[in-house]
Amino acid sequence: MCGIVGYAGPAPSSPSSRPVDVALQGLARLEYRGYDSAGVAVIDGEQVQVTKRAGKLQNLRDALGEDTATSSPVAIGHTRWATHGGPIDGNAHPHLGGRRDELALVHNGIIENFASLRAELEEQGYTFRSETDTEAAAHLVAREMEQTGDLTEAMRRAVGHLEGAFTLLAVHIDAPGTVVAARRNSPLVVGLGQGENFLGSDVAAFVDETKEALEIDQDQIVAVTAEGVRVIEADGTEVTEPKRYTIEWDAASAQKGGYASFMAKEIHEQSSAVADTLLGRLEGGRLVLDEGEIDESLLRSVDKIVVVACGTAANAGNVAKYAIEHWCRIPTEVELAHEFRYRDPVISEKTLVVAISQSGETMDTLMAVRHAKEQGAKVVALCNTRGSTIPRESDAALYLHVGPEIAVASTKAYLGQIAACYLLGLYLAQVRGNLFPDEIAALLEDLEQIPQHIQTVLDGSEQVEQLAREMKDATSVLFLGRHVGYPTAMEGALKLKEIAYIHAEGFAAGELKHGPIALVEEGQPVFVIVPSPRGRDSLHAKVVSNIQEVRARGAKTLVIAEDGDDAVLPYADEVIRVPQTRTLFAPLLTIIPLQIFSCELATAKGLDVDQPRNLAKSVTVE
Ligand code: F6R
Repeated sequence: MCGIVGYAGPAPSSPSSRPVDVALQGLARLEYRGYDSAGVAVIDGEQVQVTKRAGKLQNLRDALGEDTATSSPVAIGHTRWATHGGPIDGNAHPHLGGRRDELALVHNGIIENFASLRAELEEQGYTFRSETDTEAAAHLVAREMEQTGDLTEAMRRAVGHLEGAFTLLAVHIDAPGTVVAARRNSPLVVGLGQGENFLGSDVAAFVDETKEALEIDQDQIVAVTAEGVRVIEADGTEVTEPKRYTIEWDAASAQKGGYASFMAKEIHEQSSAVADTLLGRLEGGRLVLDEGEIDESLLRSVDKIVVVACGTAANAGNVAKYAIEHWCRIPTEVELAHEFRYRDPVISEKTLVVAISQSGETMDTLMAVRHAKEQGAKVVALCNTRGSTIPRESDAALYLHVGPEIAVASTKAYLGQIAACYLLGLYLAQVRGNLFPDEIAALLEDLEQIPQHIQTVLDGSEQVEQLAREMKDATSVLFLGRHVGYPTAMEGALKLKEIAYIHAEGFAAGELKHGPIALVEEGQPVFVIVPSPRGRDSLHAKVVSNIQEVRARGAKTLVIAEDGDDAVLPYADEVIRVPQTRTLFAPLLTIIPLQIFSCELATAKGLDVDQPRNLAKSVTVE
């Protein structure tokens, strides 16, 4: 939520727009984090120059005229998802601070005590021009700079007064070659260049420029100049060896590569994405984690699993529940992270908490992780973004390795999350002796076939694309499924709501007769996810009955069924085929037509598929 970028390079010998260009390029990469407004600041001789505009980044680009070319060695930029104050020019970042407008600051997060700080600063003669919480931080850093004359120390002192969650970046006319930054409960990474250095909310901000990065820990302060990076702790002690790593994502993976949208591209990457999640994971009988370890004796004593996640990640968790309970016989709950924390959940040292998050930054999930750890539970994080907060605060982390997901609507990360859950489930089953080694080997063999099956579904996408174009004026679509088809129905509905703005609901098919069937009238489109007839007979038969029930009431039935399942034919207005696989693995296939349907329908409606209204990719406020 909100994208932040910072740049420090050599002072250009002639007026050059390099710092602004780097900032704009970074913002373009981060626009998925928020797109209500955008702005940049540079040091132009004796003054800070700020340009900012409401709306998408293009409005800022249009506003940056020739005179913005500057010999400034630094630039900071921001793309906003509004919290305090509406999305207007005045509330856009950067915000000026100080009595002479000598500082500019950008912010991601929420400063909870801004009202009292604002009152205090107004009393001291600082003038406020916006409705944002951010302006208090800008004046605060400027005030501390007046007193100390050292920008890094000023930032350190300022954050000591702040409550809430934030990443802050600031530039000041008296420290023209420095960008100073701080973070608490909000992401910040440093990119290390040759004679120039970068800051970003995530590595996408500078992946075109460098692959070398530094992780910045909670409550650390960082100052970057062209020559170097200095990191200090909140108490002022120097961090001599900040954690350095090499970014695996290449710049091309953050380009559309000929697709109409990032979402379309990411859907079509799912075969290789899942292959990468699975690659080399269960070697020699051990689950290869990316970070940390959980003692096997502890895994043997686990008496409950709680999956915490939000949105699409929670739907992945709901798929996992069926597999983990079936394979491991461990009671498994899936809880929306924001509900978990406030419910006083029963957890203990014997609870294994699985935190699922693409971004690794979702505040609700992070808070759930902290709550679980306080109760003594061990936490395994299944995340996609390396260096993000949730895996770093968990006891162990398994990265999804699906590459950067840029579209706001999650697709390939969802498949990666499910695949990672399967790996965890199989590992637990093995450690606890619930399955024989040959059973696990057979399951793994079938799982490894899935990327090939995904490709088959993708290759046949034309049928669903055509259906989506025909249905572009639909006003309501229902999704039904049982067993693992139920979370798939939920996820199918979520995709359609968020990018096509169509009323959509996912139901457990058995629940229909308890109320929702009243919604069905002549012509109501209903997707039904049908389980394999080769699985439990009764499950398949029940879903076929559900199709008949809605059809009898006039529904248009759009049936997703596996190859060779002819039992559905008499009751389906449209049959969408997926390859045969095990019932528990089918969610990796059956969701794909639903992703394609939403993406194509939103495109046909002329909507911005990658940046749907009111949303942001990474939700870093509670
Ligand atoms: C939907 C979507 C969201 C996220 C949710 C959690 O397409 O993307 O529902 O799944 O905000 O995000 P992460 O996985 O980053 O924690």
